[in-house]
Amino acid sequence: AQTNKRFPEGFLWGGATAANQMEGGFHEGNKGLNIADVLPGGKERLKVLSEPGFNFEIDHSKYTYPNHEGIDFYHRYKEDIALFAEMGFKAFRMSIAWTRIFPNGDELEPNEDGLAFYDRVFDELRKYNIEPVVTISHYEMPINLVKEYGGWRSREVVTFFERYVNAIFNRFKDKVKYWMTFNEINSGLMMPIMGLGFAIQNEEDRYRPTFQAFHHQFVASSIAVKACHEIIPDAKIGCMIIYAPVYAFDSNPENQLYALQEERLFNYFCADVQVRGEYSPFIKRYFEQHNIELEIKASDLELIKEHTVDYIAFSYYMSRTEKKVKTDEDKAHGNILSGIKNPFLKASDWGWEIDPTGLRVALNKLYDRYEVPLFVVENGLGAYDKLEEDGSIQDDYRIDYLREHIAAMRDAINEDGVDMMGYTSWGCIDLVSASTGEMSKRYGYIYVDKHDDGSGTLERKKKKSFFWYKDVIATNGEKL
Ligand code: BG6
Repeated sequence: AQTNKRFPEGFLWGGATAANQMEGGFHEGNKGLNIADVLPGGKERLKVLSEPGFNFEIDHSKYTYPNHEGIDFYHRYKEDIALFAEMGFKAFRMSIAWTRIFPNGDELEPNEDGLAFYDRVFDELRKYNIEPVVTISHYEMPINLVKEYGGWRSREVVTFFERYVNAIFNRFKDKVKYWMTFNEINSGLMMPIMGLGFAIQNEEDRYRPTFQAFHHQFVASSIAVKACHEIIPDAKIGCMIIYAPVYAFDSNPENQLYALQEERLFNYFCADVQVRGEYSPFIKRYFEQHNIELEIKASDLELIKEHTVDYIAFSYYMSRTEKKVKTDEDKAHGNILSGIKNPFLKASDWGWEIDPTGLRVALNKLYDRYEVPLFVVENGLGAYDKLEEDGSIQDDYRIDYLREHIAAMRDAINEDGVDMMGYTSWGCIDLVSASTGEMSKRYGYIYVDKHDDGSGTLERKKKKSFFWYKDVIATNGEKL
């Protein structure tokens, strides 16, 4: 008989990372510089990068660069993958650094050293039957494309991206069966420099240039889907969005309507195009209202219509609460996705509101709207960990957070009928935080001895959550 605790057979349990936050070796193997390489450490890092006049150069006299060394996965991948295998991982989400394959982004031929590095990583994963789940572009655009072409604003970048995806699909076709195109593609609306590769210089940039850049990414994404299906017919390729369900603060219809509108633009605009293959009526209207006239070829729309993604991958860290008229006091300041404080929720030490039920809401909303398989490829608690004298890390707070979120997925599957492919929690091994550059914002089951000031031996240690997650996977989620 069906129990209400089951996860599907073959559910992809694992963990997630991104090249720029963990690899290090930022100059090795002929790698070129990417956006993350010029990202300074510290809470102001994204602001610095978006300042008008920022020249995308490395300046050691002013800043530190934690991503340059990351956690040195570039040299320690064997040790790390052995630890993932010990936890029983079925899947490991990682990204390929575009600049390892095309150091400047616009070369004609790929860089063999970079391809060979990922061959070694994928072989090591396969040794333990761990499926690589690969993000093709995770906030890692080649800096040359940012400087010389204005990032995704330029149509030429589509051609460079096509070259890149063809190179990696052909090379890794026997080793990688799960792909996704752009990490958190909709975040380009919030942090264009990371997602779209250009800084907003004035209000005007928020409209036509931003959406033109999105259009180029949609074309690029469909080119990737098409190539993936042709070159690796047994592979699946998804889109990847950042998703936070938007709650209305109360039953005031004005607030309900406002929440709905906020959800449509930020949460659904990209997935509508990538999953349904069309710009939605809502976004077309939005373009009209803001006088956004895009250069779109008829063949682009055909391509987008024909080559839609196989699944939706998304990150889930928090929900967002909204009301139409809000004061500064109402605001949930730590929530990176803004909104107002939700009186029913507690927040993490970084102010991210913790809402496991919101994950069930998210799964239901996405499945109701799109009816394609869902893959939670990021979720987790960034927290301060304490290394005890006996060398242990008692991260019960992280276990509680993960348990509740996994239970929410279980209920979405068993009670709501949502189709889920897997779960890769974020930062399964401690790595550099994307938004703050801190090492002290830790997500891992595996502790890495590295600190905000750059000191540390890089030694790895298993946290309490390591053993807990191992059991979760071994029982296919029955024992939480
Ligand atoms: C997601 C990103 O937005 O959140 C990751 O895809 C990032 O790259 C993660 O690391 C967690 O955010 P942070 O700022 O805590 O590292």
